[in-house]
Amino acid sequence: MKIGKRITALLLAAAIGIVAVGCNKVDGAEKKVKVVRVAHGQNEEHPQHKAMLEFEKYVEEKTNGEIDVQIFPNELLGATSQAVELSQTGAVDLVIAGLGTLEAFNECYTVFNLPYIMDSTEHYHAVMNDEDIMSSVYESTRQSGFVGLTWFDAGVRNIYTTKKAIMEPDDLKGLKIRVQTSPTNVKMLQALGASPTPMSFGEVYTGLQQNVIDGAENNELALINNKHGEVAKHYSYNMHAMLPDILIASTDLLDNKLTEEQAKIVMEAASYANKFEVDLWEDAAAEAKEKAEAMGVQFYYPDIKPFQDKMKNLHAEYTKDENMKAVYDKIREKGDEILAKNASVESEQE
Ligand code: GCU
Repeated sequence: MKIGKRITALLLAAAIGIVAVGCNKVDGAEKKVKVVRVAHGQNEEHPQHKAMLEFEKYVEEKTNGEIDVQIFPNELLGATSQAVELSQTGAVDLVIAGLGTLEAFNECYTVFNLPYIMDSTEHYHAVMNDEDIMSSVYESTRQSGFVGLTWFDAGVRNIYTTKKAIMEPDDLKGLKIRVQTSPTNVKMLQALGASPTPMSFGEVYTGLQQNVIDGAENNELALINNKHGEVAKHYSYNMHAMLPDILIASTDLLDNKLTEEQAKIVMEAASYANKFEVDLWEDAAAEAKEKAEAMGVQFYYPDIKPFQDKMKNLHAEYTKDENMKAVYDKIREKGDEILAKNASVESEQE
């Protein structure tokens, strides 16, 4: 980590209280309570926050109060990339990070950011639930000081603007579209003819309002939970990405701070939170869409093929790297299996 960044991380760690072990009463006796800090960028209404409340309940109950989980939503501990850096120093224990952010830490995550790599929600969920694919991805950042524990659904990402409906790639010409700080997302928007503008999630609303950007790309919840729909009234389902968020844990937490038993409970709680969140997602996205419609957002359904066609070079470029190709092939293999299975079910029904 660069010195400037390390100082920021240390200052932040000091600001949130570096003492991770305090004395609390557990069952009437003075016992050491370990504080586990969780950082994420969503508001309190978001399914991921609700899932982390379940996580908190699970961990605190199962450890009989020996662990105190503290959740910091709304990028309170800084933009997600900063929070991930804090997890590397152990100043933050758990972070929900988008794949756009994680791309900077390991190329395995880059592959997931490739537009249209997933064929459908069924494919996307099957990949994320497949341990053969995901365990090496989750482990890929161990040397960097954190590992993945589980995933959270973050729906389908689509482009929306304050200016006009995007019905074909040419409509994006000259528009400044906010992307996550992800080189793949920058390349995607460039390939579509737009001017990609990387910025943190928390800055997007003001960026749209003040015309610093003309649009962004995200799931429907951003329109409501983050109020983007107040300013961006044109949402086009070009379906370029099905990107999960990953719950990452500092290796310092798992290896040093917690006992083996406590670490096991944290992992069980993560998998419980995953199921809880995934169950909430579809309804939350439908509800956000309805609310956005009520506030005047128009939804459009362009033909996605011309958008997909613009991504062919990017797929070719990214599969030149051996490590990336290994993950790419596993994801595509799963996609092809599902396509074949669905085709055979359809032909049986005819
Ligand atoms: C979604 C996603 C986040 C991501 C954000 C963004 O909300 O769940 O992980 O950070 O989009 O666009 O930055």
